[in-house]
Order: sequence, then structure tokens, then C-alpha cells
Amino acid sequence: MPAIAIIGAQWGDEGKGKATDLLGGSVDYVVKFNGGNNAGHTVVIGDQKYALHLLPSGILTPGVTPVIGNGVVVDLAVLFEELEGLVARGVDVSRLKISANAHVIPDYNRSLDKVTERFLGKRRIGTTGRGIGPTYADKMNRVGIRVQDLFDEKILTQKVEGALEVKNHLFTKVYNRRAVTVEDTVEELLAFADRVAPMVADTGLLLNQALDRGETVLLEAGQATLLDVDHGTYPFVTSSSATAGGACTGSGIPPTRLDRIVAIVKAYTTRVGEGPFPTELFDADGDHLREVGAEFGTTTGRPRRCGWYDAVIARYAARVNGVTDFVLTKLDVLTGLERIPVCVAYDVGGVRHDEMPVNQTDFHHAVPVYEYLPGWTEDISGARSFEELPANARAYVEAVEAMSGARISVVGVGPSRAATVVRHPLV
Ligand code: GDP
Ligand code: IMO
Ligand code: MG
Repeated sequence: MPAIAIIGAQWGDEGKGKATDLLGGSVDYVVKFNGGNNAGHTVVIGDQKYALHLLPSGILTPGVTPVIGNGVVVDLAVLFEELEGLVARGVDVSRLKISANAHVIPDYNRSLDKVTERFLGKRRIGTTGRGIGPTYADKMNRVGIRVQDLFDEKILTQKVEGALEVKNHLFTKVYNRRAVTVEDTVEELLAFADRVAPMVADTGLLLNQALDRGETVLLEAGQATLLDVDHGTYPFVTSSSATAGGACTGSGIPPTRLDRIVAIVKAYTTRVGEGPFPTELFDADGDHLREVGAEFGTTTGRPRRCGWYDAVIARYAARVNGVTDFVLTKLDVLTGLERIPVCVAYDVGGVRHDEMPVNQTDFHHAVPVYEYLPGWTEDISGARSFEELPANARAYVEAVEAMSGARISVVGVGPSRAATVVRHPLV
């Protein structure tokens, strides 16, 4: 099973970090292929808790080669901060490889992200403020700065000049800010050149050669299907390709080499930031899910919006990504509920929709059609096999599986590595 992608099925924070960590011992490479330090993955190993943003979760597994692919945007200061934090905790980070083609996030794009959000007011996206959107915009606009540009001061200076030519008009004339100087930006970026140089590689070549040797590569998504710039709830999305297609473009591994697409889906739904969310709860049930599920952002600390499981978006994620297996996480959070609503379709102005409405306005007005499944009261956090789950918990998993378009191969019953029920092994 050489190349496996891990994808978020909902709006992020499904537990991708835990799933990657779980498979870490069985793979040779873990590749982050999109996003940047907007991601927040919490991984719990024994009594140790790690919060990762930019680095692939595989960095925690001894022997794994972690890779930052070409599709990632890299905040160099955050990169070294995270690496130093892990080294201080005894993690070996020496294998890390970074694509020469990955783009870097200059300070001016962090400023632009924040000032744009303020400027948008009520129309804001609720970004993480990390400069992600402006850096991907620069990439598409062909004025981005790549990791390899750090090794040629003349080229770097030319590229920064090109980028700032337009941006400084924005800063000074639209946003009423001071202009950014070319010298300051070049200095800011060059400060990292010597330290990053030994990590830089042709990661596409490296990964394809590893696959040729029969080694296993795990591609770990940041964000998720409904935050994908093409397939998500645009414009309330992130600016990268978080779906299975992005795993290829963001790593240099061709689609024909992907063997398995594993989507991580929470047993309920959460979202951070603005945008439509049909099953969102504004009542005590929402507060209950947030408290029990500890639904507060790993990156910004914002309380996550919470709602019931939405089988329409799970089916959509299965289709867009070609999902072969689901990992259903946080089933333990539903323990104690008398009956559990699951959204099976939407009602839009009296018309039933079994698929995601093509029109965003319809999605904004979608009212969930619920089916109610019986709950359970037994503590399930100690279950290690499907048979050990109470009958109603098993029935919930089976019902959700039947609605969601792919088999549920793994069920999460707690944050730790061990708190996992495997129905079908993923590697
Ligand atoms: P990611 O961004 O997809 O990696 O997810 P996050 O790490 O942002 O959020 C998932 C949270 O749920 C983390 O705090 C995990 O430790 C936790 N978690 C993952 N799986 C489970 C599970 O099955 N049960 C419980 N209770 N917590 C889980
Ligand atoms: P992980 O990898 C949840 C959301 C932000 C905002 C929108 C755009 O932990 O699942 P951005 O800063 O990316 O331009 O913000 O996307 N967002 C996430 N929400 N989990 C994430 O990552 C997210 N990364 C970005 O809240 O609504
Ligand atoms: Mg997260």
C-alpha cells in the first residue's frame, strides 16, 4: 500500500493529526502538501501532548522522514520555532525535508491578511491571520517568493521589489499603512537562508524514488474538503487545495500512484471562522458538544462552532476525494445523549436536496432533515474492538457508514493513540 492520503472530510479539526500519528509507525514518509501554519493538529502520545501547525504530524514518529511539499506556504520563523520546541522535548527533527518550490510567507503578507480582514468588516472570512491567503494569491499572481529564492540574493531582491511594487500602493493608498521596504524584507528572509539550506530538496523526486523502492508515503492534508478553494464553501474557505487532488499537485506524486484515500470525519461537525454550516447548534446541545469535545481552536484558541453529523457533506467528501476509508473520530463525545440527530438531506425552500446544493445561496438556506438515532450511556473510551462498543454505538457507526459513501474503517474513542477501534487496517 505505497501512497496513502489523509484528508479532512468536513471543515477541519476532524483529528487528522491523530490519524497520521497512528499510521506513523507503518510509513516511511509523511508529507504535508497544502496550507501552512493555519493548521493546528493536536497529537497525544502517552502523557505528552503536542500541538503542530506547520510541521507534518509524522515528525513525532522516530524513523519517519517528514516532508514539507511544494504546495505548502512556509512561515520561516514559525518553522524554526516549532523545530526548536520539538528538539527541546527530545524529538529528532533531523530528517525534515522542504521543497525548493514551496512558497514562503513574508511579513508583508501577514500584515495584509490582518488588515484585509479588518477592512472587510462584516464580510470577513475569519482567517487565522497567518498570511496564508495573500501568499497563495501571490503564487497564482506569479509574484510569490519561493524557498529556493533565498539562495540567490540578487533574484530574491528582484522578486521582493516586484511584489512590493503593487503591495505598497495597497498598504499606503488603500489601507493607510506605511510602505514596506525591499531591504527589510530581503533581510528578514535571508536571515533564515543558511539554516534552511540543508533541509531543502527536490521533494517530488525524493518521494517518487521512495515509491519506486516500495516504501510507503503518507500525504497529510491541512484543512479539509469544505475549506478547499475549489470544492469548499467559497469564499469561506482557505486558499489551498485540501482535497485528494491537492495531495498530488502539492507533492509531485501523480494521481495514478495514490492507492488509498482516507478521510477523517468527526462523529459530529465543527467549523471555525465564518461561513454557512447547516447543522450548526446555537443551544445547550452545541455548548455540550463544545465542552465535552474540547472544541477550541489549536491555532487561534477560538471556540469552534458545533453541530450534528451531516451525512450530505460526508457523501460529498467521499465523492470529491474518492474516499476508500473513513476514520470516524470522537464517537466518545456523543456518549450520554439520549438520541442523536444525523442530517440525511437538506430542505431548501420546500425542496429536498440529497446532494450539496450547487448554488451557495441555497446552501446558506439549507435546513437539515434529521434522522434520530438512539444514544448510549456506557463509557466507550476503553473500547479497543468494535464488539466492545455498546449496541447503540455500533448501530450509530453502521447507520452513519451506510449514509456516507465509504466504509468506516477506524473509530476514535478518545484523544490518545491507544483510544482507537480498528475495523479494517489502513496499512
Ligand atoms: P486536526 O486539525 O484534524 O488534526 O484536528 P485537531 O487536532 O485540530 O482537533 C482534533 C482534536 O480532537 C484534538 O484535540 C485531538 O487530540 C482530539 N481527538 C482526536 N480523535 C479523538 C477521539 O476519537 N476522541 C476524542 N475525545 N478526542 C479526539
Ligand atoms: P486544520 O488543519 C479549521 C479556516 C479559518 C477560516 C478559513 C480561512 O487544523 O484542520 P486561512 O487562515 O486559512 O486563510 O483561513 O479557514 N481554517 C481552519 N479551520 N481547521 C483548520 O486547519 C483551518 N485552517 C484554516 O478559520 O475560516
Ligand atoms: Mg486542527
